[in-house]
Amino acid sequence: MDLFSPLSLGDLRLANRLTMAPLTRMRSGDDGIPGDLLVEYYTQRASLGMIVTEGTYPLQESKAFPGQPGIETEEQVAGWKVVTDSVHAAGGVIVLQLMHGGRVSHPFITGTERIVAPSAVAIDGQAHTAQGKVAYPVPHALTLDELASTKDALVAGARNAIRAGFDGVEIHGANGYLLHEFLSPGANVRDDSYGGSPENRARYVIEVTQAISEAIGAGRTGIRLSPEHNIQDACEKDADDVRATYAALLDGIGGLGLAYLSVLHAEPAGELVQDLRARFDGGLIVNSGFSAVTTRAEAVAVLENAHADAVAVGRMVIANPDLAERWAQEAPENTPDATTFYGAGPQGYTDYPTLVGA
Ligand SMILES: Cc1cc2nc3c(=O)[nH]c(=O)nc-3n(C[C@H](O)[C@H](O)[C@H](O)COP(=O)(O)O)c2cc1C
Repeated sequence: MDLFSPLSLGDLRLANRLTMAPLTRMRSGDDGIPGDLLVEYYTQRASLGMIVTEGTYPLQESKAFPGQPGIETEEQVAGWKVVTDSVHAAGGVIVLQLMHGGRVSHPFITGTERIVAPSAVAIDGQAHTAQGKVAYPVPHALTLDELASTKDALVAGARNAIRAGFDGVEIHGANGYLLHEFLSPGANVRDDSYGGSPENRARYVIEVTQAISEAIGAGRTGIRLSPEHNIQDACEKDADDVRATYAALLDGIGGLGLAYLSVLHAEPAGELVQDLRARFDGGLIVNSGFSAVTTRAEAVAVLENAHADAVAVGRMVIANPDLAERWAQEAPENTPDATTFYGAGPQGYTDYPTLVGA
């Protein structure tokens, strides 16, 4: 399959199979309202087949980074509406990544009294806050009632995203945040029906996915997973347990008619990812993780060998707003500058040159 051929993922119509991976950039101020800078940044990238936004919080206590955007308040919804209108006017497709940060946060970041997680197990490490680096706190283990209200908040965030003009919502089930914490035996030591066995650890992610897809339509709902991505102490080191947990998850969500499954894994062509794909009735987007920057050659090979329907590209999209054109023409690329990935202002954000401007 050609990287530059069109693709339908549920209700989403992509002009090509290059998607912008979700990328936290922390440029939405203290109130989490996307402003003009985000409008420009996302619009610059509208020629990719689909943009997935940075992880966005639906609830103040789920915020994970200073400067992260939200999708909770009317002001945040209005800010995003300007972004989505502008991306659509430029011919793009844009999906919001809905992210509950779980225990990867600190009250200095959320401004709330508590940080929540499946279990009261802290990450061994430090959070980056405006007040400097501080040890991650021991999170409050969500009660059964709180699991229900947190699910409701995620559904409300998904509905808000649709009101803000997004074409769809990607549920963030990856990279050590709340939903991934439920899946990981390292982070989830609950002894109720949401912990213990693989089926129990998969249960909350299934329930959240069902509820969101019912609320906004399965054809507008995607999910991102990162099995075996041992990050932020959400460790999954027993291969048999990983297979059983993600098989249980996919058996719960595989038949819902979701738009897509996005998987971050070092070996997209390997048995694990391809087994998950076989259990899923929508399209597959892959990304091979942080160890090496996704290259054109890698993306072309994934598509030519039919290991996925589309490829999510992160750092090369940060550095090349017109990456779709560059890769179509095999033109030279700008190099990403990691020192400006996170932070404020246009530098390293909206000032990478396009081919025309180069
Ligand atoms: C600066 C930065 C921010 C990221 N933020 C997110 C995020 O908000 N949500 C997410 O699922 N992944 C996030 N990721 C992971 C990327 O989506 C992607 O998987 C990773 O960059 C590897 O792909 P690449 O080699 O194409 O960059 C982030 C990565 C980087 C470099």
